[in-house]
Amino acid sequence: MNKGIAIYPGSFDPPTNGHLDLIQRGSKIFEELVVAVLRNSEKTPMFSLAERLEMLKELTADLSNVRIDTFHGLMVEYATSIDATCVLRGIRAVSDYEYELQMALMNRKIEPTLETVFMMPADKYSYVSSRLVREVAQLGGPVKGLVPEAVEQKLREKLDPAYKLQQTKVIEVPRRRKKKA
Ligand code: PNS
Repeated sequence: MNKGIAIYPGSFDPPTNGHLDLIQRGSKIFEELVVAVLRNSEKTPMFSLAERLEMLKELTADLSNVRIDTFHGLMVEYATSIDATCVLRGIRAVSDYEYELQMALMNRKIEPTLETVFMMPADKYSYVSSRLVREVAQLGGPVKGLVPEAVEQKLREKLDPAYKLQQTKVIEVPRRRKKKA
C-alpha cells in the first residue's frame, strides 16, 4: 500500500474525541495526515475557523506527521493540490454508511485516482457527533468524555462568557473584624 499523504476533511465544529481517535489511528497508517477544515461561508458554525484550527493544532501537537489546514471548494481539488492519495473518513454506525458511500463515489467520479479509506473510531465514541455535542452543551448538559478537555473548556467559555471571568477573577476573602474586648 502507498502510505503517502492522506487528507481527513471535515467541519470539526467542534473536534470530538471520535475525531481525535480517528486522527491518531490515521497517523499510524499514513506518512502524513492533513486534517483539512472546510471553510464554508453558507453555514454559521459555533466555533470560528480560527478557533477550530487552534483547537485541532493543540490536540494534535504530539503527532509529528499530522498537519492542520483549511480548504474551500471541492475537497478532491484540494486533496490533489497537496498530492494526497487518500481521503480518510470515519464510519461510526450503519447510519453513516449511506451518506459516506455516496460522497466517496461522487468524489471518485470527479477524481478517480483518489481513494477513500474508512476507519472506525473506538466503539465508545460510536454515538458521538459534533452536532449532538453542540446540542447537549447548548442545553446545559454534560459533554465530559465526549470531547477533549480543552474543547470542553472552550465550549463552557463560548456558552457562558461569565465562566471565563470566573476563572480569572481574584477571590477576595473578607477580612474578619476584631472582636471588641
Ligand atoms: O464533518 P462533515 O461536515 O461530515 O464533513 C463533510 C465534508 C467537509 C467532508 C464534505 O462536505 C466536503 O467534502 N465538502 C467540500 C465540498 C465538496 O467537495 N463536495 C462534494 C462532496 S461529494
